[in-house]
Amino acid sequence: MRRNAMAALLGAALAMPLQAADFSPYVDAAGRISLPSDVRARLVHLGSWAVVDADSPARGFHDVYTERASVEHYRKTGAFPDGATLVKEIRVLNTGPMTTGNPVHWGSDPAVWFVMIKDAKGRFPGHPLWADGWGWALYKADDPAKNVATSYAKDCQSCHVPAAATDRVFVHGYPTLTAP
Ligand code: HEC
Repeated sequence: MRRNAMAALLGAALAMPLQAADFSPYVDAAGRISLPSDVRARLVHLGSWAVVDADSPARGFHDVYTERASVEHYRKTGAFPDGATLVKEIRVLNTGPMTTGNPVHWGSDPAVWFVMIKDAKGRFPGHPLWADGWGWALYKADDPAKNVATSYAKDCQSCHVPAAATDRVFVHGYPTLTAP
């Protein structure tokens, strides 16, 4: 009996790296990030950006989401809580005349998702996708299970420097973070 209990304990300890990290349901113990499901229905909309420049690789509708609890925490403290999730969904841009104006731009099918997970404790030192207080990930619509970002320094860092004073987040586009 005692041997079995020991074996069970050992088995549980060995299985640890596959289990979720305790601070986020989207991070496992090795620091791998997964894309939250059904983002539009489950998370709160923070704000949107529209990149209409035909030559930009970022062309599209950019909608940004986080948890309701993270919004409440931000409104109280001016900072995102440990474990907060930010998702930026880019949707393909459609353009055409409508009764509201011409041209009107609207977003249709999702193309990519950018994800940031707040890590206030520096849990994954030396991990290429965990730095500057966040975990960083990118998913494409053809394979939403695969994080195609491999290096924060190469794939994300330089573009987020302009938002360094606001914890790498472009908060001026997110009116939901400000209490009405
Ligand atoms: C070409 C520059 C560029 C690159 C590369 C880039 N970002 Fe961003 N990111 C931005 C800008 C600018 C915004 C806000 C405006 C927009 O979306 O147009 C933003 C917004 C975001 C947001 C919404 C929250 C916020 O910070 O405002 C997330 C999440 C995000 N980026 C994650 C990432 C991740 C993860 C990577 C790397 C895999 C990455 N970004 C690479 C420029 C970039």
